[in-house]
Amino acid sequence: MAHVRVAVRVRPLSSRERREGAKIIVNGDDRNVTIQDIRVPEHPGCDHRARYKHFRLDECFFSDGERASQQEQVYASLGRPLLDDVLAGYNGCLLAYGQSGSGKTYTMLGNPELLQKLSAAGSECTMSLSCVEVYNETVRDLLMRRPQGLRVREHPQTGPYVQGLGMHLVSCAAELRSLLTRGMSRRQVGATQLNGASSRSHALVTREG
Ligand SMILES: Nc1ncnc2c1ncn2[C@@H]1O[C@H](COP(=O)(O)OP(=O)(O)OP(=O)(O)O)[C@@H](O)[C@H]1O
Ligand SMILES: [Mg+2]
Repeated sequence: MAHVRVAVRVRPLSSRERREGAKIIVNGDDRNVTIQDIRVPEHPGCDHRARYKHFRLDECFFSDGERASQQEQVYASLGRPLLDDVLAGYNGCLLAYGQSGSGKTYTMLGNPELLQKLSAAGSECTMSLSCVEVYNETVRDLLMRRPQGLRVREHPQTGPYVQGLGMHLVSCAAELRSLLTRGMSRRQVGATQLNGASSRSHALVTREG
């Protein structure tokens, strides 16, 4: 597997966007996306390079029509290979980037049904987990009963770490799910113009061991 893989996911229009007559301006195939800048008028002889921006990626996931991708496909393509490497002892990181309301939380955490399925699958392993958020320059342990600001320090050999961050042992999918649900429910959430339940912080779930 390549060291870094970059994928794009296009979410479906929300009901509000559909009501407002919004159009999807991102198109493409499994490796390419084209974004249309609809502010640039389209007419014969118009500046195509200004109107259409092309990007090549390792993978693209769309939400409309026949090529619609479900959570399971995104997980199988991006999550699973990373997980296999991590279980083989390599370091790995899955990062979601995008503007408010673009679908980062949905993609990273799935919906409650998916978590339910995972825990029903009952796969077993032992690992420890920490769950931290960075919000307004403050680092908090989301698995502490009353999360308070923690200090980020630098270890000469292993690099940056959060002082006093709790590591929690989990031995089955149900325990993992319960810790994740608890941690995620303590995240800072607020409404933005684009997302009624917008995650206002950066959240990091880290596994060790
Ligand atoms: N692929 C998808 N299919 C269906 N619904 C989706 C998809 N992606 C996102 N959504 C819905 O779109 C809304 C916004 O998604 P989400 O909360 O994940 O955005 P976000 O990128 O985490 O935003 P923020 O940065 O504000 O936290 C949610 O209601 C979510 O359920
Ligand atoms: Mg979010």
